[in-house]
Amino acid sequence: MLDTTTSLQEEVQTPANTPNMQVEIAGIKMKNPLTVGSGTFGHHGRYNQFFPVETMGALVPKTIRNYKWPGNPEPRVHEVPAGLHSSVGIPSNDWDTFINNDALILQSFELPVIQSIIGRTEDEYVEMVEKCSELGIFAGIELNLSCPNLKQGGLDFGYDPVAAERLVKRARQATELPIVAKLAPDFSSLVSVAKAVEGAGANAIALVNAPRAMCIDYRTRRPIIGNKIGALSGTAIKPMAVYMVWQLYRSVDIPLFGMGGVTDYRDVIEFMAAGARSVAFGTINYVDPMALPRALQDLQQYLVNEGIDDVNDLVGCAHD
Ligand SMILES: Cc1cc2nc3c(=O)[nH]c(=O)nc-3n(C[C@H](O)[C@H](O)[C@H](O)COP(=O)(O)O)c2cc1C
Repeated sequence: MLDTTTSLQEEVQTPANTPNMQVEIAGIKMKNPLTVGSGTFGHHGRYNQFFPVETMGALVPKTIRNYKWPGNPEPRVHEVPAGLHSSVGIPSNDWDTFINNDALILQSFELPVIQSIIGRTEDEYVEMVEKCSELGIFAGIELNLSCPNLKQGGLDFGYDPVAAERLVKRARQATELPIVAKLAPDFSSLVSVAKAVEGAGANAIALVNAPRAMCIDYRTRRPIIGNKIGALSGTAIKPMAVYMVWQLYRSVDIPLFGMGGVTDYRDVIEFMAAGARSVAFGTINYVDPMALPRALQDLQQYLVNEGIDDVNDLVGCAHD
C-alpha cells in the first residue's frame, strides 16, 4: 500500500479562506464531494468509530439484498502489492433485521444516505427499490449492477446495456428518489451501458466497482480466496478508474461518482479533474480509516493555495 500519511496540513499553515465545498449531484446536496464506496466503510452501524460520519458529504452504506444471505466462503480477502483481492459476496440481513437495526442508525445521521441495493433478477431489484423508497430516510438509491442476471444467462446487469436499461427503467417507475447506477469496469460495454442507464432515467452513475480478479497460491496451486474468483480494488486500479471517469464525462450528461484506489486529496483532485463531481474512498478505509477526513482538510487547503474558490471548478477541468 502507498504511504498515505502525506498531509498538506503539515506542509502549509495558511488559514483557510473557506472555498465553497458544496456539490449537488443527482439533486442530492452534499456539503463536500467526499463519500465512501459501498461495502468499504463498516456496516451494521459501526460508522462513527473513527470520525463523525457527518464529516463527509454523503454516506453510501453496504449493499443490501431482499433476503438473508451469508456471503461467500472464507477466506474473503487477500492483500496484494497494490491493493486488495476480495470476494465478500455481499452478506445481507433480511429486511426486518435491516429496518430494526441499520435503518434506525442511518436515520439518525444528519447527511444524505444513498442506500445501495442488489438483486439477482429485475423483480428483486425493484422490490428493494420500493422498500427503500417507502422507508423515507434515503436521499437516493444506488443500484449495484454487478450481479449476474439469473433470468438472462447469468451475465452481470452492468455488462449488458439491454438488461441495464430494462432494470433502470423499472427502478425509475418504482421510485421518485434519485437513482445512481453503479457500473462495473468493463471496457467494451462501459459507454453503451452508461448511455443505456442515462436513457432509462438514472440520475447519476457511480464508477468503478472492483474488476474481477484471481490470485493463486503457488504452493497449493489453488485459488487463494474461498470463492476462487474475486475482485481487485485499491491503488492498482486507480489509473483504469480515472480513465473510465474521463471517458464517461465525455459520453453522458448525468453526473458521476468516481472511485477506485483513492487514498488522499491528490487522488480526489485527479478524479474530479477527470469528471467526477463526487469521489468515494473505498479500500483505503481498511488501511487508514482517517484518510477521508484528512483528505477533506487537505483538499480545502489545496483550493485556498491555488486560489480556487469553488470545488465545483475542478469537475472535468482536465478536459480543457
Ligand atoms: C471488501 C469490499 C467490499 C465491497 N462491497 C461492496 C458492496 O457491497 N457494494 C458495492 O457496490 N461495492 C462494493 N465494493 C466495491 C467498492 O465500493 C468500490 O467500488 C471498489 O472497491 C473500488 O474502489 P476502491 O479501489 O477505492 O476500493 C466492495 C469493495 C471491497 C474491497
